[in-house]
Formats: sequence, C-alpha cells, structure tokens
Amino acid sequence: MIEFINPSSEKPYIHFQSLYQEALENNQRGVEAISVSSYSQEKSEVEARYVNLKYIVGNEWIFFSNYNSPKAQQFESHSQVSVLIFWPSINTQIRMKGFISKTSTEFSDKHFKGRTKEKNALAISSNQSQVIDSFDEVAENFHQTLRAMTSDTVRPDFWGGFSFFPYYFEFWQGHENRLNKRRVFEQQEDDWIERLLQP
Ligand SMILES: Cc1cc2nc3c(=O)[nH]c(=O)nc-3n(C[C@H](O)[C@H](O)[C@H](O)COP(=O)(O)O)c2cc1C
Repeated sequence: MIEFINPSSEKPYIHFQSLYQEALENNQRGVEAISVSSYSQEKSEVEARYVNLKYIVGNEWIFFSNYNSPKAQQFESHSQVSVLIFWPSINTQIRMKGFISKTSTEFSDKHFKGRTKEKNALAISSNQSQVIDSFDEVAENFHQTLRAMTSDTVRPDFWGGFSFFPYYFEFWQGHENRLNKRRVFEQQEDDWIERLLQP
C-alpha cells in the first residue's frame, strides 16, 4: 500500500489517485511496486530494479534503500530517473520521469522507527548488492544483528529514503483493437501541459 500525505491536487496526481483506487478495488497485488531505472556513468549503462513505493507526500515520491548500493551511487552521479508501474488488473501502465535525491533524515528516522525489528535488522546487516560467499553468511549476519538490537537502536547513516519528483507522466490504458489511450502530463513552470499520444 502507498500512503498519501498532503495529497497533491495537481492534474496528474488526481488521475494517479483515481487509478490507484481502481487498482485496489480490483485487488491488484504488489500495487506499490515501481521499477526505477537509473544511469551508471561509470559503466555507461542503464539499470532497472523494482522497489516498494511507501509514500507520496505532496509531489514527493518516497521509497527506502541502502545508500551505498549501486542504485544509490547511480542516483548520486545522475539524478534523472525513469519510473514504471504496471497494474495488469486494470490494464494500466504509468510512466514517469523525475529527479531523485535523498529524503530528509527526519523522515527516514520516523519511517525506520515504525518498521519491524526484523526489517531493520536486515537493513542494518546487509551490505546491499555486495558479493558474498554463501547465503549462510547473510543469515548469520542478520541473526547476530537482530540479537544485538535494543529499543535504542537508531537508523544507520547508510540506509534511508529516496525522494523523486516527477516532471513527466504518461498514463497508458489498454483497450480493444489496440485503441490504447495515452495521456501525457508534462510540467512547465507551475503548470502541467496535457497531451494525447497515438497508440
Ligand atoms: C517487488 C520488489 C520490491 C522491492 N523493494 C525494494 C525496496 O523497497 N528497497 C530496496 O532497496 N530494494 C527493493 N527490492 C530489491 C531491488 O529490486 C534490488 O534487488 C536491490 O535494491 C538492489 O538494487 P541495486 O543493486 O540496483 O542497488 C525489491 C524487489 C522487488 C522484486
């Protein structure tokens, strides 16, 4: 589930919220899963991965991850990202482009405090995306961290939120005979310019 805080009343956001409700009513699984593509300057390649979108605060879209991970390094050197959502239950794709940076430390702390001990133990113990010798090593690190945790354990600096602010949305809705509807919203200064695209 995505938590909406101070929901934006701008056009693409109203449209997004109405589709999100429709997807929930149609029992869409993994409704919070979004694919985030980033560019690695070092390798000259684009990489995509799913993350769970946790909040939309006004126009700020927030998920959580490891700040030393490959994605974090890519966001640092190239802050423009491409984000995709597909909700098959309502045959809808949402495509976004935006700029990404770290969420405020206050917001990350608050979110960390609200999570289960197990989730936090994993966040603390995992050197995300680093190569290891065996899965046992991961499990051992996790259990050791879990045992050492107390109610005073705080969020480590290397884990927290990422916020992206979309400047482009495309809502694609599949219809019979491939008469698919594509509605684009592009930000221009304080407004959103709306266009329709051919299928
Ligand atoms: C549905 C789904 C949701 C995921 N959510 C997250 C998430 O919220 N945060 C995260 O760090 N990784 C999440 N992952 C794992 C990422 O896809 C990825 O494997 C990991 O973040 C490492 O990515 P990187 O090496 O590009 O940094 C999720 C995977 C799936 C399939």
